[in-house]
Amino acid sequence: MQTTRPARAAKPLKGAGKPAPATQVIEELRPGQSIELLKELHILTREGKLNQDTRRKLKQVYHLYQFIEPLLNEVAAEKAVFTLADHGAGKSYLGFILYDLFFNVAHAGEPMAGHVYGIETRAELVEKSRTLAARLGFARMSFLNLSVQEATTSAELPPTVDIVTALHACDTATDDAIAFGLAKGARHMVLVPCCQAEVAGVLKKSRALSLAKTPLAELWRHPLHTREFGSQITNVLRCLQLEANGYQVTVTELVGWEHSMKNELILASRPAQPNAGKTRAAQARLREVLAELGLGELTARFAVQAEPA
Ligand SMILES: C[S@@+](CC[C@H](N)C(=O)[O-])C[C@H]1O[C@@H](n2cnc3c(N)ncnc32)[C@H](O)[C@@H]1O
Repeated sequence: MQTTRPARAAKPLKGAGKPAPATQVIEELRPGQSIELLKELHILTREGKLNQDTRRKLKQVYHLYQFIEPLLNEVAAEKAVFTLADHGAGKSYLGFILYDLFFNVAHAGEPMAGHVYGIETRAELVEKSRTLAARLGFARMSFLNLSVQEATTSAELPPTVDIVTALHACDTATDDAIAFGLAKGARHMVLVPCCQAEVAGVLKKSRALSLAKTPLAELWRHPLHTREFGSQITNVLRCLQLEANGYQVTVTELVGWEHSMKNELILASRPAQPNAGKTRAAQARLREVLAELGLGELTARFAVQAEPA
């Protein structure tokens, strides 16, 4: 006959119930970084831990921040009050983390007078971000319930904005962010485009005509290729548009980003004296590419003057 042993009370684990010490929390965290913010953004669990997914997310944001920090330092050194606008901010991961890393970590205790604006069309996300910023005391952040286009003329934003960011802003919102940056005389733009359907739509519409004109239209004959080529050419046109406006452009990869198709990082900086020759050459090139691909109707989108008929 089997006897059942009385269940022994489990011995409490050493340290259970106590918050994990900071060093144990994660070595990725930087001294002074807001733990509360990371918990609110669900990067840290309530217990202050990272799981595999959120560890990756944090690394990705740090990766992007390493491109933005020198730009912030540059404008902060030049201007008493510098500004950054993040378009299609969503939950404002990027804005909050860069605010925390820049103002509270890198320049803790220094008198910095910058301001970060989050632009977002979803009212509930704007409200949440406002509440979180107020709770954390992130006083130099504002969240505006506007489309990127509306933000360009809104009195709630200053006439000039130094840095423009747009991280996976949907569809043509990246194009609107570029237009915003051009209108606001932005020194730097940091763009990680989302998919854009507009160019692919025009390629599709003129496919038969293009195939009759050039064998290169084979590049976008199949619908899947139309989408992919459309997406790539959109970013090519964006880069040319920026160069045609005097910016120096670098295209690189946002390493380890979850969406492998949306990991292109476009960094654009406008020097104090843009190279007039290069600017003119980019303007001409832009018109040529639009014409060659049958994309003339997108001339206004990419901000070039239509050639007289
Ligand atoms: C894919 S989410 C990216 C959010 C955030 N940037 C991130 O990477 O976590 C895109 C966001 O852009 C917003 N959005 C889309 N079109 C917009 C527009 N024209 N103006 C402002 N926000 C827009 C959407 O509501 C959404 O929150």
